[in-house]
Amino acid sequence: MADLRSLGIERGWIYETLVSTYRAGGPHATPIGVWSPDFSTVEMEIYNDSKTLDGIMAAKEFTIGFPRGVEEIHAALLHPDSLKFTPARSVDAPEPAGLCAVLEVRVVATTPGPRRTLVAAAVVDLRTDGPFRPLNRAAPLLLEALVLHTRAAVVDRETLRRQLLEYARVITKVAPGSRYEAAVRELIEPLPPPRDSASRD
Ligand SMILES: Cc1cc2nc3c(=O)[nH]c(=O)nc-3n(C[C@H](O)[C@H](O)[C@H](O)COP(=O)(O)O)c2cc1C
Repeated sequence: MADLRSLGIERGWIYETLVSTYRAGGPHATPIGVWSPDFSTVEMEIYNDSKTLDGIMAAKEFTIGFPRGVEEIHAALLHPDSLKFTPARSVDAPEPAGLCAVLEVRVVATTPGPRRTLVAAAVVDLRTDGPFRPLNRAAPLLLEALVLHTRAAVVDRETLRRQLLEYARVITKVAPGSRYEAAVRELIEPLPPPRDSASRD
């Protein structure tokens, strides 16, 4: 059985990947955030009106590619014709060439919601071309938070706090329990609460 720990991923953290399906006979890849609850299955929430969800529901199989960097995410969204694909080994789906790692997966459950459907899939094949760092938004967001922190003297306190809280919200979503989460909270704690809540005391 595939063990996703070999990719260096953390349980419940969200990684930015390329999900690929066949669409009208041709390959189609789109960026999707993917997490694993148990290192053998993956989960994701996909917009109900997307071509990708259509493709997944039709084939019940797809691939999840881990990009080398944000360039492949950009290419998939804005320059899809620049992606090259090969057929996956074990499932009826395409995979983009040149990625760090590819999971071939089969759907085990779908849970529709009002806007997005939760898709759970079992990993049936996994390959990687060596060690890499799966793409997660927490580190770049902490970097942005640190830059903002250095501007504290010239930024309005409420704007600063609001922006840092937004970074913290996303970091908590994509990397719960991480040192990135602790670090961004450390920046927020010394800041005074917004005037509204202070005036209620
Ligand atoms: C970094 C990144 C992560 C994304 N994550 C998701 C996601 O988890 N679920 C989703 O439905 N769309 C996500 N999107 C948006 C889809 O890629 C976008 O809606 C896409 O255009 C729709 O796909 P389609 O071509 O299959 O219709 C993400 C986009 C980016 C840039």
